[in-house]
Amino acid sequence: MAAELITGISELTTVDVEERVLTDAAVVHEQGEIVWIGPSGSAPEADTRVDVGGRAMLPGWVDSHTHLVFAGDRAAEFVARMAGQPYAAGGIGVTMEATRAASDQQLRELIADRVESSIRGGTTCLEVKTGYGLNVEEEGRAARLAAEVTDEVTFLGAHLTPPGISTDDYLDLVCGPMLDVVRPHARWADVFCEEGAFDVDQSRQVLTACREAGLGLRVHGNQLGHSGGVALAVEMEAASVDHCNFLSAADIEMLAAADTVATVLPACDLSTRAPLAPARDLLAAGATIAIASNCNPGTSYTTSMNFCVATAVLQMELTLAEAITAATWGGARALQRDDVGRIVIGARADLQVLDAPSATHLAYRPGMPLTHLVWRSGQPA
Ligand code: NIG
Repeated sequence: MAAELITGISELTTVDVEERVLTDAAVVHEQGEIVWIGPSGSAPEADTRVDVGGRAMLPGWVDSHTHLVFAGDRAAEFVARMAGQPYAAGGIGVTMEATRAASDQQLRELIADRVESSIRGGTTCLEVKTGYGLNVEEEGRAARLAAEVTDEVTFLGAHLTPPGISTDDYLDLVCGPMLDVVRPHARWADVFCEEGAFDVDQSRQVLTACREAGLGLRVHGNQLGHSGGVALAVEMEAASVDHCNFLSAADIEMLAAADTVATVLPACDLSTRAPLAPARDLLAAGATIAIASNCNPGTSYTTSMNFCVATAVLQMELTLAEAITAATWGGARALQRDDVGRIVIGARADLQVLDAPSATHLAYRPGMPLTHLVWRSGQPA
């Protein structure tokens, strides 16, 4: 792939270790990697040149929590929630039925549409979970289809116990034949550690088996209450614990002292009318946070990381710089990646340009279609 020089960058948010923001900048990428960053005036020659016309550039979003493998929707459940019903884990079963009923081709098309909308919105790296199959064959299929669109596949067989089987028997399946079938396609395992799903001991059983099988760990924790998921994630050295709506001071201290990333899901918090995850307190304590979309039909039917970033600023009281870092490098940390989420020499050329002169417009003009250009591994997307 030839070297391409990108000029006309009014503001370049690098998310590098010094959090540099350059004005009137240029970037060169070659063979899918960033090879030069600096002032426009001293940019080197390259094989091709693109002028982005005085617009802001930042790293592509790293969306570290999605459930894109599903069919059907849960609009009726959403309407009931807006009329006052609380969110409960049981709705997952509705999506399980619809997902099982879809053919491979139908699911493939649904996933492709969601990935496309995600990329159009500036996401250049995304994690995808299983979790709506809930038997050996269907979880295997979900993992296989997810692996067609990402390297970051997460096995979430422990999302809910499906009807017709006891939780103990189901966990034997999850930790045995289901894990065996999913393992070739997955990098991660996750568990929904929450009332109505799996308790701490059951969750530990799943995480232990998956770790022994060589998978990295993630946890859905403290979404609906003080579930113990955060403490479990830290105990098991999970890469990330996601949701984090109900945190005690001890949970926050634990996360600040651990390598486990606290992933917050602002769109989900709004859609479930949950107390917002205390992102500000987590940062103040020194924890690493990530922001992700949690795209799924139950609690967060959006792929828009721009919306999540705007919400984190407007509702969770993060600065724009903090929110951008959480949605790029924070997501990379949650996926234990160091090649994405930053515009630094040697990183993957995952870039987005906004139709705005500065990244501030992401929160200042929420809901506007600001993503203008996207490159993934140096390819226009
Ligand atoms: O991350 N909380 C568990 N899993 C999803 C929601 C699943 C559903 O309700 O379909 C989430 O919010």
